[in-house]
Amino acid sequence: MVRQNIILAGFMGTGKSTVGKLVAERLGMHFADTDATIESLDGRSIAVIFAEDGEIAFRRIESTVCLRIVRLPERVIAVGGGALLDKYTRSVLESEGLIICLTADIDEIIERVGDDPSRPLFGDRAAIERLMAERAAHYASLPHHVDTMGHTPEQVAEEIVELWKNNT
Ligand code: S3P
Repeated sequence: MVRQNIILAGFMGTGKSTVGKLVAERLGMHFADTDATIESLDGRSIAVIFAEDGEIAFRRIESTVCLRIVRLPERVIAVGGGALLDKYTRSVLESEGLIICLTADIDEIIERVGDDPSRPLFGDRAAIERLMAERAAHYASLPHHVDTMGHTPEQVAEEIVELWKNNT
């Protein structure tokens, strides 16, 4: 199978966008971020979409954006942490790209994300633990994992480039 894209998935704060840009640079590919694309197409921030229209509406837009971006060739795509929970979106992205899940532990995630108000599902520690537990099986089921703990974004990017070379 010829896969043309790299899809970076994983929980909020695992570094998908930071690392994705570096991977794209190294491979001479384009970088896309589904949250940023949603915001520029919709004209509202993710937080406002959640607040005004709710999560279900956000997921609909997110799925449309994922399916659209993945058709463009040679993209490193950072998808929102919940984007691949939708089975159809996941199956299409899986057939068009190499899905890699970035991981980090909860303390590191809290440290990285802090009080960022742009992430409506990022609550207090108990809420994050709950969401991580709810999604643990989902993330574990993704085909490749790269642990970001104790690694610089450059090191993580290098590992992803190696994975890509070994899987295409
Ligand atoms: C979400 C993650 C966010 C964003 C939205 C919902 C999630 O993206 O899509 O707030 O459900 O995990 P990041 O993973 O890029 O923070």
